Amino acid sequence: MHGASPQTDVRLGSILRVLIDHATVVVSGTKIASEIGTSRSEVWRLIQQLRSLGVDIGGHPATGYSLKSMPDLLLPELLSPLLQGTIFSKHIHHFYRTNSTNTVAMAAAGSGAPEGSVFLAEEQTAGRGRGDHQWHSARSVGIYCSVVLRPKLPPSDVLIITLAAGLAVHAVVQELDPQFAPDLKWPNDVLLNGKKLCGILTEMNSEATQVHHIVIGIGLNVNQTSFPADLRDTAISLRLASGTDYSRLQLCGALLKFLDGEYRNLVQEADARDSILRRFTERSSSAQGTRVHIEEDPGFQGVTEGLDSRGFLQVRTEQGIRTVLSGTVVLE
Ligand code: BTN
Repeated sequence: MHGASPQTDVRLGSILRVLIDHATVVVSGTKIASEIGTSRSEVWRLIQQLRSLGVDIGGHPATGYSLKSMPDLLLPELLSPLLQGTIFSKHIHHFYRTNSTNTVAMAAAGSGAPEGSVFLAEEQTAGRGRGDHQWHSARSVGIYCSVVLRPKLPPSDVLIITLAAGLAVHAVVQELDPQFAPDLKWPNDVLLNGKKLCGILTEMNSEATQVHHIVIGIGLNVNQTSFPADLRDTAISLRLASGTDYSRLQLCGALLKFLDGEYRNLVQEADARDSILRRFTERSSSAQGTRVHIEEDPGFQGVTEGLDSRGFLQVRTEQGIRTVLSGTVVLE
């Protein structure tokens, strides 16, 4: 199935919220029904739906229900409390399955979705990467997240926001475990142990001098225990790197908090741009002094020389310095 599916029934999240808030007791169907404003039979149906999604709920209509373990689903009701005080807390949309959260977010932004809207999917059927690439999006093991921003910036400044998103991912991975040594690869890859851990796809709608909206789509490999054969040599997850499972919910909350901090800084502080360029260069082993091949038409080779003031990669070639505006950077 390749279309956009309906959003997750918000009542599923509401039921989970009630069960989490009463985690140590059995909650009657009547109480749940009155708290979320529906009937007991509907509660039963929704509980069955949650169970089919892998949520471990004990009990039945006669005894009431209890949550046996905390589910790791990116439901708005669970994520929103982690995002209080950020621009991302109020308009969170969740899909069990959709084609691409970027596609959904771009369409929603075009219809007026406010800045800070977040679109999350447990699974994408047509996850998109840069160029014509696909993004492998298996169910509930990665974070597939797109956010809508409406910065008052010209389109030429949007690259800086993408770089800032990379910094946010870098920060969250490092905070998770100081043993991790994430590495940024221009413009928007986060590598771990030389393999791709995260990709960022920024799309925008703008006129010549002013951005209308941008969508930043982040795909972070978290609990994958394997990848399809064609990705095995190049992709990695946090789980594959460490042998540990992580809470996608906590990670997603922390990631959006870091992104909120970077974005606020960028739109409020005069020196934020310099700080982003400096920190990106510091956290990238390949932004300076690395021999690279730029896959463009035609491609070229050279040695990286850092970023220019708008965030574009500079490469020293035999013909002099060239600025990479797009194209994939292949490390040699
Ligand atoms: C890349 O490295 O090529 C970018 C990958 C971006 C993947 C994310 S997953 C969430 C969002 N939805 C998409 O379809 N793509 C981005």
